[in-house]
Amino acid sequence: MSREGRLTICQISDIHCGSPYFIPDLLERSILEINDIEPTAVVISGDLTDAGYRQDFETSAEYVSRFHCENVMVIPGNHDSRNVGYIHFERLFGERFSVIDFDEAIMVGVDSSEPDLNDGRIGREHYDFIRQAFTDAGEKLKIFVVHHHLMPIPGTGRERNIIFDAGDVLELLAEVGVDLVLSGHKHVPYSWKLENMFLVNAGTASTTRLRGNTRPCYNIIEIEDERVRVYRKYPFKERELTVDFNAATSEYSRYEEKVDSDLPDGPVSGSTPAATGTGDSEES
Ligand SMILES: [Fe+2]
Ligand SMILES: [Fe+2]
Repeated sequence: MSREGRLTICQISDIHCGSPYFIPDLLERSILEINDIEPTAVVISGDLTDAGYRQDFETSAEYVSRFHCENVMVIPGNHDSRNVGYIHFERLFGERFSVIDFDEAIMVGVDSSEPDLNDGRIGREHYDFIRQAFTDAGEKLKIFVVHHHLMPIPGTGRERNIIFDAGDVLELLAEVGVDLVLSGHKHVPYSWKLENMFLVNAGTASTTRLRGNTRPCYNIIEIEDERVRVYRKYPFKERELTVDFNAATSEYSRYEEKVDSDLPDGPVSGSTPAATGTGDSEES
């Protein structure tokens, strides 16, 4: 339950247990920091593993069990659905689609992954579930959680993995009055405002699978009455406010700086930068 009408949600994403780029210290520190905050809920928005293997899922489940929080939402990412990993996901974390209902807010999480594909899709067969959950929530603050991003993220090279039905999903979310969308996947933290929604993308919390000059981080979302503040927290380091909005009045501030590209320092006039991107096997 929330304390005195105030909710704190920590969103951690793309921890990638089993990856050679996984840094245990970063995840352990993030968990300690999050437990210190005593959040109302913890969201782990996919890519808990690097390849969906049993041992990596078990490692990730052990880490997730360290959160001292009674409301933990876990959804799979594309890496978790490799090698039939969704079997282990369901055994260790339960349903791939889930809802957490608070007095002041509702959080709906969905699985956008497809077996052995990096591309994402939610699918029309799940729209009724999403619509019903948010419609039943009335005036509560509405939060949607999905691994793949619904809009392109700057500083991520060639765009490949917006979910196939992003247009239809965005229309549905706007129609039912969603306030906040929490995603991951690209390992680049960023936020967009679209209609009355804020689309907040988390970085990777515990890997050096980073693009450009981005750093490992996770999100802290503080909700008090109608006011929502999203902070980006760097493990061991500072936190910074990225979005501050009032869901009732639609007033907002957004503090996103231009995402660093992979361009080298120094003058680049007269040259055309090469396209950036990684091979498909490294797809976020
Ligand atoms: Fe991903
Ligand atoms: Fe990832």
